[in-house]
Amino acid sequence: MSVAKKQYKRITTKSLVEMKANGQKIAMLTAYDYTMAKIIDASGIDVILVGDSASNVMAGHETTLPITLDQMIYHASSVIRGIERCLVVVDLPFGTYQGNSKNALDSAIRIMKESGGHAVKLEGGREISESISRILTAGIPVMGHLGLTPQSIYKFGTYTVRAKEEEEADKLLEDAKILEELGCFALVLEKVPAKLAEKVAQSVSIPVIGIGAGSGVDGQVLVTHDMIGMTHEFHPRFLRRYLDLYEEMTNAFKQYIADVKSKDFPNEKEQY
Ligand code: KIV
Repeated sequence: MSVAKKQYKRITTKSLVEMKANGQKIAMLTAYDYTMAKIIDASGIDVILVGDSASNVMAGHETTLPITLDQMIYHASSVIRGIERCLVVVDLPFGTYQGNSKNALDSAIRIMKESGGHAVKLEGGREISESISRILTAGIPVMGHLGLTPQSIYKFGTYTVRAKEEEEADKLLEDAKILEELGCFALVLEKVPAKLAEKVAQSVSIPVIGIGAGSGVDGQVLVTHDMIGMTHEFHPRFLRRYLDLYEEMTNAFKQYIADVKSKDFPNEKEQY
C-alpha cells in the first residue's frame, strides 16, 4: 500500500529529517541568483543550495577556492529574495572556517545575518568538528559534505570518485556518524561508490543527499546549470541533462543577431 506523501508549505531542517524517516526523497538544486531561485522554488524543490560552485559557474574560475564570503553573501541574498517555500543552504567558502572555530562562527553568522540564508554547509569530517560544534551552539543549522570535497581539490589532485578503497570508505562512514553526533541536520555525499553511499544513508538518521552517489541515498542534488545544459563541457556519468539550453540559447542569440542585422527586429508592432 502506498503512503500519501506529506505536503509541506515551508521546508525546514526538521522537514528533511522527517522526509527521510517517511522514505520521501529530497530534491535539491543549486541557485546563485534571484531569477533562477524563483523558478526553482516555484517548481517545488525542497532545498536550494547556494553552492560555492558559483565560483565555477558564475565567475568562471577553475576551482571553488577563489570565491569570497562577501560574494557568497551577495549570491545567497539574491536567492533568498526569490523563494517562498524551500530551505536555502549556503556554502561557507574556502578559508572561512578551516582555520579556527571562532572564524567559522563569525563566517556563519555573517551568512545568516547578511543573506537571510537558513543554514550553512561545510566540507569535511572530524577535522572540522570544532568549527561545526561552535556554529551549532549559535543555533545555526549545519549541513555536512563528505566524499569528494572540491575545496580540497589540490589535496586529492583529481575530481575522480572517492573512497573506493576500504580504508577511506571506513573513515568516511565514521565521519558521517561524527557529523550526525555533532548535530548536523543532513549531509551531502559527493562522488562515492553507490554501495558505500547506501551504507552511509542506512547508518545515520539524518538525510544523506547524493551527487554521483547512486540511488540508495535519501535525496539528490545537481548543479542547475549542468542539469539544464547551460554548461556543456562537463559530462560526468552521474549527470542527467534535462535540457540543452546551451544549444537553445545559442540558437536564440544567433537569431536575434540576424534579426537586428537584417532590420527584421523591431517590427511595426514592437515599437511605440
Ligand atoms: O557547490 C556546490 O554546488 C556543491 C554541490 C555540488 C553539492 O557543493
